[in-house]
Parts: sequence; C-alpha cells; structure tokens
Amino acid sequence: MKTIVKKIDKNQIDDEVIREAGDVLKRGGLVAFPTETVYGLGADALKEEAAKKTYEAKGRPSDNPLIVHISDYEDLKKIAVNIPPETDALAAHFWPGPLTMIFEKSEAVPYGTTGGLDTVAVRMPSDPVAAALIRAAGGFVSAPSANTSGRPSPTTAEHVLEDLDGKIDMVIDGGSVDIGLESTILDMTVDPPMILRPGAITADMFEEVIGPVSVDETILGSESKKAPKAPGMKYRHYAPKAKLIIVEGDLREEILAIRQLAYAAHRDGKDVGIIATGETIPFYKYGIVKNIGTRENERSIARNLYSVLREFDEEDVDTIYSESFAMQGIGKAIMNRLEKAAGHMRIPAAAITKRQKYRRVIFVSSADSVRGPMAAELLRNQELEQEYVIDSMGMVVLFPEPANQKAEAIMKSAQMTLEGHVSRQFDGEGLQDDTLILTVDGNQKEKILAEYDNLKNVYTLNEFVGDDTEIPDPYGKPLTAYGECYEVLARLVGQLAARLNLLAEGEE
Ligand code: TXA
Ligand code: MG
Repeated sequence: MKTIVKKIDKNQIDDEVIREAGDVLKRGGLVAFPTETVYGLGADALKEEAAKKTYEAKGRPSDNPLIVHISDYEDLKKIAVNIPPETDALAAHFWPGPLTMIFEKSEAVPYGTTGGLDTVAVRMPSDPVAAALIRAAGGFVSAPSANTSGRPSPTTAEHVLEDLDGKIDMVIDGGSVDIGLESTILDMTVDPPMILRPGAITADMFEEVIGPVSVDETILGSESKKAPKAPGMKYRHYAPKAKLIIVEGDLREEILAIRQLAYAAHRDGKDVGIIATGETIPFYKYGIVKNIGTRENERSIARNLYSVLREFDEEDVDTIYSESFAMQGIGKAIMNRLEKAAGHMRIPAAAITKRQKYRRVIFVSSADSVRGPMAAELLRNQELEQEYVIDSMGMVVLFPEPANQKAEAIMKSAQMTLEGHVSRQFDGEGLQDDTLILTVDGNQKEKILAEYDNLKNVYTLNEFVGDDTEIPDPYGKPLTAYGECYEVLARLVGQLAARLNLLAEGEE
C-alpha cells in the first residue's frame, strides 16, 4: 500500500485535505493525524473491521482497547451509557483536551474497538486538525498512538512514517505535537474515579473540580504484582532499541554516577547514551549525550521524551542512562513513560558513586611551575579506570605564570606538554571529601595541615604510593636535573595510577 502524506497548517486548515481524509476513514481506511498529545492512528470507531485493520498495522495485541475520539460533547451519549454526573464538570474543564474518560459502552460500539470490554474510552482532542477530521469522518474515530506496538509514541509525522509507511492509507502532517505524552486516562466506572494512566492533567487538577480521585497503584514502580487496569499499560512500551536504565538519586549524585558509567564504557571502547537536561549537559564529557529539555520547564521534557528515545535508535549505543525527574505535575507522567521504556530498570546512583573514593587529584608544590604541573600531566597520561579532575597548585604563587621552560622541554621530549598551564595558589577552597591532595614534599603537607584543619586526604606523593624516593627539586639547576626529577616523578605517578586503579576495584 502506498501511504499518502498531506501537510496541513493548523492555523489555516485545508478543507480539501480534511474531506479526503474523512472519506478514507468512512470507507474503512486508516489515517494518522496529529492531536495535542501524540499522533493517533485513526479508523472508524463504529466499524468492527476497521479496528482489526488498526491492530494489524500496529502489530498490537487485540485485547488492548482503542480510545474513541469525538468532536462534539453531545456525541458522548451515543457511545456511552450510565454516564456519571461528574462527567459534565470534567468535560467543561478539560474537554477538548488531553483527557480520556472510561464509561460503560453503548451497543453502538463494537467489541473490536473496546478489545472485548463492556467499557469504552472516550476523548475529545483539542487539536483543530483532529477535531475537523473527526467531524469529517462522521464523529467517532478510534485512535491509538500511531506507532508500531512497543515503540515510543510518535510526536511528528516523520515518526509515524518510520513505523507505519506502507501499512496505512494516509498521514496528515500537522507538525510537532504540543504535549508529547498520551492523555490522562480516568476511569469513570468506579467511585471515586481512578487515574489509570498519568498525563498532562493531574490528580490535583481533577480534585479541584470533582474532589478526590484514586490512582491505579500499578502506574509507578515495578513492585506491584497486580495487572494494571488499562490493558495497554501492562506491556513494555515506548521502548528504544538500546537498554535504557534510569539512574536515581539526588541530581548531583545522578550526574556523578552517569559520568562514572560513561567513562568506564568509553574506556572499553563503547560509548553509552545519556539522557540529560539543559542544566546538566555541561557536566558530561563522555558518551552520546542528548538534551531532553529543561528542568525549569517540565513540559519541554514531556515534549521531547519520545523523539529523544527514537533518536537513540540511530546511534550506536547498547545502553542509555537517564537522569530521573521530579514527580510533580506532568513529572509523574514523564517518569511513568520513562520507567515503561526502561522496562522498570533502575539503579540507585549511590550504588555507583560509592565505588569511587576520589574524583579529583591536586598535586601541590611550592610555586606550581615544575614538579606539580609535571606530576599532573603525567597522571593525565596514565590509563585510569575512573575519571579524575587532575590539577596542580602551589603554596607560594605570587602571580599566575606559565610552567617553567626547562620542565616544559623535558615533558616535550616525552611527548607531553605543560602548554597552557598557569600556576595557581592553593587556597583550600571548593575541596570536597573526594579530593585527594598530594604534595611533592613534606613541607607543603605540614603547611596545609596547619592552615586547613578541615581537609581530609592530604598526603605526600611518596607516602601515598609507599615509596620513599625523594622527589628532587631541580629549580635553578641545569636541564639534566629536570630530567632526573622527571624520572622519579614518572615512576611515582605510575605507582599512583596503579593505586588509584586498585581503589577503583574496591581494594583499600
Ligand atoms: O493521547 C492519547 O490518548 C492518544 C491520542 C492518539 O489520542 N491515544 C492513545 O491511545 O494513547 P493508545 O491506544 O496508545 O492507548 C490507549 C490506552 C491503552 O493503555 C488502553 O489499554 C487504554 O487506553 N484503554 C482503552 N480503552 C480502555 C478501557 N475500556 N478500559 C481500560 N483501559 C482502556
Ligand atoms: Mg500507545
């Protein structure tokens, strides 16, 4: 089958396109169309065979019922019975919009559409293209998300074509959707009504209108053994091809954990994917990092979630790590979809970060122009199992200066460089428990301990690696003295790297 693609402008709807699409639906065909939540795969909701086609195109299990979309509130009465009185208030507040309500179905709705259930899910979308199409199709359009079953829901027409090109009659391309996550599902057949799927309309928003609602306990977390009440929620869903793992903890810890995982993978020659936010992106150095939106505006995260998951399918990654997001407002829906996409795979950030004792190494010498910078550069050139921020500082730095020229000459002859080094005064600021301070001789260590009584992890380099070869100070001596200093430092730093790598494997 050739899938026809028609572009449409939401602000200036081409009636001709809508009429053509409406005719396809009336004849029992399939048309994908934009809604404010995600793209839907439309069919005539009152035709048994149309539902069958929908399941086939999506590869969806036929016990998973479809949502019937309407464009006129009066039409609800034609497909639902025993409509509870709160419905009017809910519809007045949230329809048209990203809310689906479940009612007892009327005889008009075939069991094909409801997956064999006696209830029917109904939504009145606010997207003007969707509303026009529903009207043109006769008023009742069943529409699951227009993706292959199990894949992330489509938020653009391109996503629809990735999954369904050649399998459906037509796609109406109305650009990117607004919300990006599927509608909130509220079951009106129980008292109080129950949220079966979280979305942009939250429990708090319902409560302001009709008082307390309940929430299906299976929505978040893998602990529950019960089956979710919305049949579709039991499947692994929204899933990218790579394994997705959610890292949980406070944000600082999540970043540190993901950095560690990304560094380890990079060392093994395999980059991981990282789902980060505008605020956290600068912290990642390794891995394929994608910006999902800004934490300041959670709606931006909702809008980008599925497209980011799809984008990772184009990348050569086996594993994707995601930061987690606050559970307020639409955050609950974001975490619900992310957990489903991850098949509930989560790791506590602390379990990863506690494996790394030191994250920063500072070499301290007197003027920070010879031994300190040389040691730092030597360590940067070691094979390290974990990632460290490596610096050097001096105890008497009167003003910032480049590295000593003889030191640079020696480093150059060993294919390294101190170019760009600028000496810095040690001031004890910004140091944390994961900072390792290594002095080139005992004087600096004593001075630091005397001046800063809160610092942990201050050692001479010799002491830390258990080798008491003194590090000679070549300052003011001929080049050969710098060479001798280099030899000693190279050996000690080699031992240091080995020691750090042992710590990385959990040995003290
Ligand atoms: O935002 C949306 O709701 C999108 C757009 C296209 O409107 N549609 C959508 O449909 O997400 P779908 O088929 O991907 O998800 C429908 C969900 C499934 O989890 C299904 O099991 C549940 O609604 N559902 C449908 N009818 C139900 C019923 N009678 N009882 C319980 N759950 C029902
Ligand atoms: Mg879906």
